[in-house]
Amino acid sequence: MILSLAPMEGITGYVFRRVHAQCFGTLEKYYTPFLPTPRVGSRFGGRASKEVAPAHNRGLNVVPQLLTKNADEFVWSAQMLAEMGYREVNLNLGCPSGTVVAKGKGSGFLRHPEELEAFLRDVCARSPLPVSVKTRLGLSDDSEYEAILDVYCRMPLAELIVHPRVQRDGYRGEPRWEPYGRTLERAPFPVAYNGNIFGVADFEALVDAYPTTRHVMLGRGIVANPALARMIGGGPALGIDELRRFHDRLFRAYEEEIGGNAVFRMKEWWSYAKDDFADPHKVIKAVRKARGVADYEAAVERVFNTAELA
Ligand SMILES: Cc1cc2nc3c(=O)[nH]c(=O)nc-3n(C[C@H](O)[C@H](O)[C@H](O)COP(=O)(O)O)c2cc1C
Repeated sequence: MILSLAPMEGITGYVFRRVHAQCFGTLEKYYTPFLPTPRVGSRFGGRASKEVAPAHNRGLNVVPQLLTKNADEFVWSAQMLAEMGYREVNLNLGCPSGTVVAKGKGSGFLRHPEELEAFLRDVCARSPLPVSVKTRLGLSDDSEYEAILDVYCRMPLAELIVHPRVQRDGYRGEPRWEPYGRTLERAPFPVAYNGNIFGVADFEALVDAYPTTRHVMLGRGIVANPALARMIGGGPALGIDELRRFHDRLFRAYEEEIGGNAVFRMKEWWSYAKDDFADPHKVIKAVRKARGVADYEAAVERVFNTAELA
């Protein structure tokens, strides 16, 4: 079974990937949060250049994810990534953000299956790296997926990762397993599942329902509980001491990256990690109130000394 880390913009960047691997062991695969493609002839800039810098990903099997509808820019980016040593490139066809969708990118690309087909045919032919896709079912209704899956099944994809929601769902509600199962049956290439695997029971239910599942991508579940992959593999439950060590390393690593106060980054992590605790409301309240670093460290000290894991 392949367990991978989902791309989560602002969360599962290179700092998180590295600290998680150091504390809980490496996963089979990691996906970068979406990277806007540079113009043909330009290099990756800003956040994207840090995400793909080989030094930041050493020892990890990282797949860069691109967000674009421009085939030339996709191919150009894939060429640069191939030169850096990457072995696969992923296309984001799931981002639900209004501004992204309005530009026809992310899940917005799903509105036009014919255009998507032309794009995929072109990039699969010209990309020096195998192309995988992370998709939603459509924009507003699951029935849109039939035509979209038809397109995918005609393409030589390296893999299709299915997050079985539509754009309108955002990240709310239950992902629909049936379209994932249909994809498993129909697709001539490997298929992965993603969505709402928060604990071992969720994982087992999925594999019971779809025993040919071979790759599960973990997002919010593993951000909240960094021991989730180990637990799925039959290992011990998350301990409070290891969670504290993970927290401390992550905080220091973010401080180093930012060169200053990383409290806001950690508050984002706590919005997921609070659910590890018996009283999530109390935990998040204590942490959110903190302003400066000293204040934050005192709040965290109190949480780890007094709060109980769920
Ligand atoms: C804050 C946040 C940022 C995300 N960023 C990305 C992204 O950059 N690329 C992408 O394909 N999906 C992104 N996602 C979606 C996740 O990869 C994943 O599909 C989603 O969280 C559902 O899986 P989960 O229930 O295991 O978290 C993001 C989700 C969240 C909550």
